[in-house]
Amino acid sequence: MADTFHNIIAGEATPAASGTTFNDRNPADRNDVIGTFPSSGPADVDRAVEAAREAFSSWSTTPAPKRGTILRQIGDALTERKTELARIMTREMGKPVFETKGDVQEAIDTAYYAASETRRLFGHTVPSELPDKFNMSIRRPVGVCGVITAWNFPVAVPTWKIFPAIASGNTVVFKPSEEAPHSATVLCEILSDAGVPDGVVNLIHGAGEAGKALVEHPDVDAIGFTGSSETGKAIGATCGRLNKKYSAEMGGKNPMIVMEDADLDLALEGVIWGAYGTTGQRCTATSRLIIHEDVDDAFIEMIQNEARDLTLGSGLEDETDVGPVINEAALEKISRYIQEGVDAGAELLFGGERAMDDALADGCFFQPTLFRGVERDMSIFQEEIFGPVLSVHTISSYEEAAEAANDTVYGLSSSIYTSNVARAFRAMHDLEAGITYVNGPTIGAEAHMPFGGVKDTGNGHRDGGWEVFEFYTETKTVYVDYSGQLQKAQIDNVED
Ligand code: UN1
Repeated sequence: MADTFHNIIAGEATPAASGTTFNDRNPADRNDVIGTFPSSGPADVDRAVEAAREAFSSWSTTPAPKRGTILRQIGDALTERKTELARIMTREMGKPVFETKGDVQEAIDTAYYAASETRRLFGHTVPSELPDKFNMSIRRPVGVCGVITAWNFPVAVPTWKIFPAIASGNTVVFKPSEEAPHSATVLCEILSDAGVPDGVVNLIHGAGEAGKALVEHPDVDAIGFTGSSETGKAIGATCGRLNKKYSAEMGGKNPMIVMEDADLDLALEGVIWGAYGTTGQRCTATSRLIIHEDVDDAFIEMIQNEARDLTLGSGLEDETDVGPVINEAALEKISRYIQEGVDAGAELLFGGERAMDDALADGCFFQPTLFRGVERDMSIFQEEIFGPVLSVHTISSYEEAAEAANDTVYGLSSSIYTSNVARAFRAMHDLEAGITYVNGPTIGAEAHMPFGGVKDTGNGHRDGGWEVFEFYTETKTVYVDYSGQLQKAQIDNVED
């Protein structure tokens, strides 16, 4: 019998009002049922929002550095339980334990970083136009924040939003992906053990129905979302209609440019990690290689030799380099893109099929895949596949490379390998993306740096860095007039 899990509302384990549930399965072994979780609906979201609203008055008035102390305790607790949590995540969503440990570390870094910001949360003081008047801006929490996230970074990405939100004095209703409910449950237990008061972070499990109810709830003041562009835009339409603050991190089709003057050994390590790490299931994954014609044959051969040695398997095994993809729907989606690539005339150099050998037969494994001769109008060049598929496009100049890199609706991450400093600086400006790596792959964000994208990837906000605090706070402008007289700005101030 699989374990049964519940929502967490005001610190209480609470089943869905409807009593309906769903099963969570291991993608490396579909016979392994991790647990049964509630399929929540509007009634459950109502209760969670009510709990968050109730907790808001005392949490938002707790001095920010005291909230910071709890965030530091969270960082300590995550550090203590890092390996245990990493193994839970691997069993649930597939990526190898060395990667899930990195995921937990990102959450630890985010906790300590958010803790440190609670001693700043700066406003500004600036001179007034008028005598004996003091001008300043202060930061206030937004209110109740809904956090809706994907399964591929089941701990890091939720904490990018939850930690700055609670550091700023907000309370949260967290709706994780239905593909990673166990990791989210353990994360919330850790938060509670570390001293987060009941009701400050509430957990609601379920699929689209729960997410929709959260977005539409009139008492939810802001929504932080990471997921597909399709869902993200639909949420954006609702938030626009309801005049709700909304931060979206959506898809990517991230290019790595390798110029003729690049260190090819370095670029090789980068492209293997960027394209096949996390089985290509990162929004920052390197999914397009844009390579100079002088080095394309040599570099493609290097990739082929290196990719041959990648070991596919359960992420819980030490020797595994590449884990499964998340589910059967992902296998189908990836296969459909492979077929489209072949039909469009791209050359399939290796992979391209579901991996079914021996121990892999019960899981959702897909072979690392490489296409060359990929042209800009092909779907495998344009669309997010979210799997271990790399599309190679050959160019003959830097200008052509930048143009190809920008030829996408997405704009999350990008990278250039070159030894020419001037060209590297040009790329920093030319590439239409929220992130550019020089001589590194498109993945590897750090917690204290802004994370997010332009074009169809984002809506102008950022996770990470100081910028995320801009989203989870409202600025209030304060004028203190100690002149003892009515002073009329713009009128008293200027003589005709
Ligand atoms: C994501 O895939 O949603 O920079 C986030 C990176 C990771 C985060 C990826 N630290 O690739």
